[in-house]
Amino acid sequence: MSPWGGQGRVIHVQEVALRDGLQSEDGFVPTKEKIKFIDRLAASGLRKIEVSSFVSPRAIPQLADAEAVFQGITRRPGVIYAALVPNVRGLERAIAARADEVNLVMSASESHNRANLRMSSEASFQAIKEAAALAAPAGIRVAASLSCSFGCPFEGEMPAATIQLWCRRLQEEAGIRSISLCDTTGMAYPALVHDLVGSIRSSAPEANLTLHFHNTRGLGLANVFAGLDAGVINFDAALAGIGGCPYAPGATGNICTEDLIHALEVSGYRCGVNLDALIETARDLEKLLGHTTPGQVMKAGRRRRGPLAEKHGPVDPQPISGSF
Ligand code: COA
Ligand code: ZN
Repeated sequence: MSPWGGQGRVIHVQEVALRDGLQSEDGFVPTKEKIKFIDRLAASGLRKIEVSSFVSPRAIPQLADAEAVFQGITRRPGVIYAALVPNVRGLERAIAARADEVNLVMSASESHNRANLRMSSEASFQAIKEAAALAAPAGIRVAASLSCSFGCPFEGEMPAATIQLWCRRLQEEAGIRSISLCDTTGMAYPALVHDLVGSIRSSAPEANLTLHFHNTRGLGLANVFAGLDAGVINFDAALAGIGGCPYAPGATGNICTEDLIHALEVSGYRCGVNLDALIETARDLEKLLGHTTPGQVMKAGRRRRGPLAEKHGPVDPQPISGSF
């Protein structure tokens, strides 16, 4: 499947600015502002939004108001409001807050798991298993995130066999089909993305993969197109490209939602998002944060597709229905 020309194929973009983005900001964004942005993101057509995380408030003080944010948002039908969760305690908080989906996190790298979650990867996996078993009867959707899938700041490139093994165990032992391969510190490059996704798709064909890229080394959107070529249709991104990398101070953040959607739409893919509204929201986020963000399209303006582009897909993408 060539990535060059979407032919109207639908791509799902999950918004992570309010979680992954804000956890790297120095300041605390007031709860009411977080709520306003989530409501605007949902109104622009994004159908999956990571609202916050239910982790230790001492570990991530920027997101200590997760319950209040969930309480304050206006739920739009069809939108999945998700939360990152590291353990059963987090799951219980997510259920009480009526999160639609929990994103259970562990790292493929032993050293990174210990640095980030203060336990072994196996201990995190057992916590995920336990949380997933409790989530199902509560009617909450479950996904898992595998940090450092494309490399670790301590251990370097991860063996494909390690990622394959965790994907298989997440599916077979924990019953989780939705798995995000996360490029936590921006080490992925297109050939690696293509190879790794290919190997997971052959060893764990039931997995519904999401790719989570950081643009730490400028390869974010190139990696997305490698993922598209390998058949992936779910991608994470953060409004205005906010976020960062705890192991590369000053580095740029997640791939940028409005830049990603712009790139996909000009290429003939459909995301069901009002890009103009999203760009406005990104500009307002930059104002709120009080510093320049990595977003490009908000500065340069969107490129309009001309009639020549029609062969790549519909010129005016229509709203889409259906779920993730
Ligand atoms: N929500 C709120 N508080 C939690 C919690 C949760 N899900 N899980 C643990 N805690 C609290 C404990 O009550 C304890 O509080 P106390 O010190 O006031 O008694 C404290 O956190 C430490 O708990 P402990 O079980 O000893 O865990 P830990 O110190 O080994 O930390 C994590 C483990 C996973 C809870 C912690 O490292 C964490 O929250 N990390 C989040 C990392 C993150 O979000 N990274 C970015 C995204 S990948
Ligand atoms: Zn991330």
